[in-house]
Amino acid sequence: MLKIAASILSADFSRLGEQVREAAQGGADYIHVDVMDGHFVPNMTIGPVVVRSIRGLTDRPFDVHLMIESPERYLADFAEAGADILTVQQEACIHLHRVVEEIKGLGKRAGVAINPATPNIMLKEILPFIDLVLVMTVNPGFGGQSFIETMPAKIAEMRQMIDALGRDVELEVDGGIHSETASRAVRAGARVLVSGSAIFADPDGVERAIQKLRSSAK
Ligand code: DX5
Ligand code: ZN
Repeated sequence: MLKIAASILSADFSRLGEQVREAAQGGADYIHVDVMDGHFVPNMTIGPVVVRSIRGLTDRPFDVHLMIESPERYLADFAEAGADILTVQQEACIHLHRVVEEIKGLGKRAGVAINPATPNIMLKEILPFIDLVLVMTVNPGFGGQSFIETMPAKIAEMRQMIDALGRDVELEVDGGIHSETASRAVRAGARVLVSGSAIFADPDGVERAIQKLRSSAK
């Protein structure tokens, strides 16, 4: 059951609502929202007010990826704005278990992301508590970067860690996902593909781009 998460970072923000609808109607399983603060990553994007304003356009789950320092300060705001999955970066959380418990306390699904240079083992103790692992396949901060070539082995190792645990933890990958890298990521064990530029910059349109990603990953 492969899921596609459309990252609106690469959408045309002058017609964001329309693009969210296109992604949802085009078959995206999740709407992926990249939140950046200019500190954890060298870029700034959107906050809860934007999430709230587009939330009513679709019933697809909102997968909110917090690339921000001290994410605990904003969990309630994003939860109230309509996030369904709240994913924090492991590197941004000294007390990761506490943050995960806070997300669950808000009634949301908890995800943890790791940067390309962070080893999988950093998630070993938190895996029993979370719903989703996000393996970053680029350094976070921008859309349209190239997939890091060593990531399939990392995805495969994380797949093994999850399977060994015997819990239903979704394994998501994010960054540089297009037809060719999608198939490698899925073969390695990814089950949710985040894609921004391959979906929103495809000249054939959003729906066709999502179909292409799905069929390439088969
Ligand atoms: C990167 C973000 C991604 C980004 C992916 O920091 O977390 O979600 O939008 O964009 P593409 O698919 O263009 O690499
Ligand atoms: Zn993301």
